[in-house]
Amino acid sequence: MIPLLAKLEMLREEASREIKRISSVADTAAFRIKYLGRKGEITACLRELPSVPIELRPQVGAKANSLKLELENAIDEKQKAFAPWQGPKTRLDLTLPGRSRFLGKKHPITRTIEDIISIFYGLGFSVAEGPNVETDYYNFDALNTPADHPARDINDTFYVEKGICLRTHTSPVQIRVMERQKPPVRIIAPGRCYRKDTADASHSPNFFQTEGLYVDAGVTFADLKGVINTFALRMFGKDVQVRFRPHFFPFTEPSVEYDFSCVICGGKGCRTCKNSGWIEISGAGMVDPAVLKAVGYDSEKYSGYAFGMGVDRITMLRYRVSDIRYLYDNDLRVLNNL
Ligand code: DAH
Repeated sequence: MIPLLAKLEMLREEASREIKRISSVADTAAFRIKYLGRKGEITACLRELPSVPIELRPQVGAKANSLKLELENAIDEKQKAFAPWQGPKTRLDLTLPGRSRFLGKKHPITRTIEDIISIFYGLGFSVAEGPNVETDYYNFDALNTPADHPARDINDTFYVEKGICLRTHTSPVQIRVMERQKPPVRIIAPGRCYRKDTADASHSPNFFQTEGLYVDAGVTFADLKGVINTFALRMFGKDVQVRFRPHFFPFTEPSVEYDFSCVICGGKGCRTCKNSGWIEISGAGMVDPAVLKAVGYDSEKYSGYAFGMGVDRITMLRYRVSDIRYLYDNDLRVLNNL
């Protein structure tokens, strides 16, 4: 046996015994100095290497190096074991108060739509939906709106391309529903509408309506008044009054606009109702025979009423919001209080 090899073997045994007894950072440091330090045991062996016959040197050198590596690893291991806490810098402080969680809630418009739906469910209506991007046919033509009607102007309506627009009201859903089914039809259609209006306190280029439609044999204007009255009472309480004023819509004949007595001032007159005591909700009327014809209904056999409903208007009254823009700005300082 080459003496240097034997010596290295002895060192390995000695070191592995010693390692087991290491029990502190100081022990680890002493161990490192003893074996790997500049004047350490292994360094000394390596210094003797030139005295080993040249053909044996690689074998001895390899052994010395592998022992060195082995001890370095063992030292690293020990150092880790004795090292102070190295975890994340921000430690959990159990004495701090908890963080309250932000609880979301439904948007006031969503809540209004849900309440409108549940009132009309109670009156035998179901809910229908239609696309927000409509063809001219559904948005205007089938609703008996002539080609030169001002609402069709590109300054009032958002056109996606020729003949295709963002719906300006929920009335096209009437047509889509009647095309699909025979009378009796009794639906409401809540949803978003779009008009080229500049936003101000009472206008928004996108807003919500709920359409209503009831077609069957023998439906009368009295039925329309009854259902609007009942809706007003269920939405705003027993003191609200409803009035109907003659008006014109291409898709109804006769047509009305209807108002609720101002729920802010109780009808006495205030800023919200511009001192009139009334708040306009939307239009309504008896479905024009031309509309029934467009969907293939027999207007001799069937009659019906239709109504619109300004969802934003109702929301503003319920939550006492003076400016429609508050409903669309998504400012949580406002919405959290509604
Ligand atoms: N579509 C009308 C509007 O946007 C509202 C309306 C009026 C709807 C009369 C109707 C109706 O169903 O019969 O102003």
